[in-house]
Amino acid sequence: MSLFNVYPLNPIAIIKAAGSRVWDDKGQEYLDMYGGHAVISIGHTQPHWVKRIEDQLHAIAFYSNSVVMPIQEELATALNNISGKKDFQLFLCNSGAEANENALKLASFHTGRKRIVAFKKAFHGRTSLAVAATDNPSIVAPVNETDNIIFLPFNDIAALQNCFAEQGTSIAAVIIEGIQGVAGIYEADDAFLQAIRKCCDDFGAVYIADSVQCGYGRSGQFFAHDHAGVSADIYSMAKGMGNGFPIGGILIAPHIQAKFGMLGTTFGGNPLACAAALAVIEVMQQDHLIKAAEEKGNYLINALKNTEGVKAVRGRGLMIGFEMEAGLEDLRKVLLNDFKIFTGEAKPNVIRLLPSLAISMEDINLFLTGLNKAIQVLKQKKD
Ligand SMILES: Cc1ncc(COP(=O)(O)O)c(C=O)c1O
Repeated sequence: MSLFNVYPLNPIAIIKAAGSRVWDDKGQEYLDMYGGHAVISIGHTQPHWVKRIEDQLHAIAFYSNSVVMPIQEELATALNNISGKKDFQLFLCNSGAEANENALKLASFHTGRKRIVAFKKAFHGRTSLAVAATDNPSIVAPVNETDNIIFLPFNDIAALQNCFAEQGTSIAAVIIEGIQGVAGIYEADDAFLQAIRKCCDDFGAVYIADSVQCGYGRSGQFFAHDHAGVSADIYSMAKGMGNGFPIGGILIAPHIQAKFGMLGTTFGGNPLACAAALAVIEVMQQDHLIKAAEEKGNYLINALKNTEGVKAVRGRGLMIGFEMEAGLEDLRKVLLNDFKIFTGEAKPNVIRLLPSLAISMEDINLFLTGLNKAIQVLKQKKD
């Protein structure tokens, strides 16, 4: 049987990993500045994470959500502490799309309304409502099309306020990434997030902070939305949450009340996933990885801004995007093939850096050296 061919693949088989390094089946080592798409938060095969999962595997891997699971409560408390969202409630699921799907559904249940405000170039996932709120018609199937989503320009306060003035009483939620990832690393302005908070307060709508990619400490705050100094009503989380073990979830403000059967899942919140998520938080706290993301991010951003050939640098912490001058479009390919460095991309021309928050300064400098050499290679070809 063949695999359903939906991913354009690099012809590289990665079979081993540790920290910020991965190895292919021929023993070739690579530097991972991509983190498997922002997923690797504390480092590949981090020893405490491996042990926590291993120990849990010997105790119990799975039971359904029909019984009390103390490890879920342990995770809820750990999340309250690390996020600072003290009285928030936790619902666990398995992925980012599922987290957003549940967030949007919950907002609609809570308000009794149907309309969702989302933004140009947003990406919220591929399940039905999440993909409908994603600004990319090529991945929206006819069955996912709906008139319930209103797309507004990103960071446009006037457009937001006009929309609420006209139809605020029918809006269930505003969903926004603190830093747009798939779009190419664009930060939401603090003033824009504050305006969203105010519109939602004035009209009784729910502010959903999609933190699937920009959350979990990557920006230098637990949630990138925290930089704006306002709190959202629901935070969706996934990628960095399990360091590669599939887990997602939503943090829900105390004024949103649960009802039996409102949300549900078979696998969400299983003990193995909770063990992985707890290990991530424990390592983040012990090794001060959120602070490290801020400091290493600042260093990297500054270095990129001073790199010849780099045209624009965006982002915060270890969620960085940069664009190259004309003639250097093949940089990502050269980095991978000639310098054995994995990076991410955003179409048409953005290189995304989403490394582990535990990446060492040595590896960051190795990346910068490789980058400078790769640029020289391309410049020489051009001249
Ligand atoms: C901001 C954002 N939201 C949601 C998702 C969807 O997450 P998943 O692929 O786990 O469903 C992604 C994935 O890239 C994302 O970047």
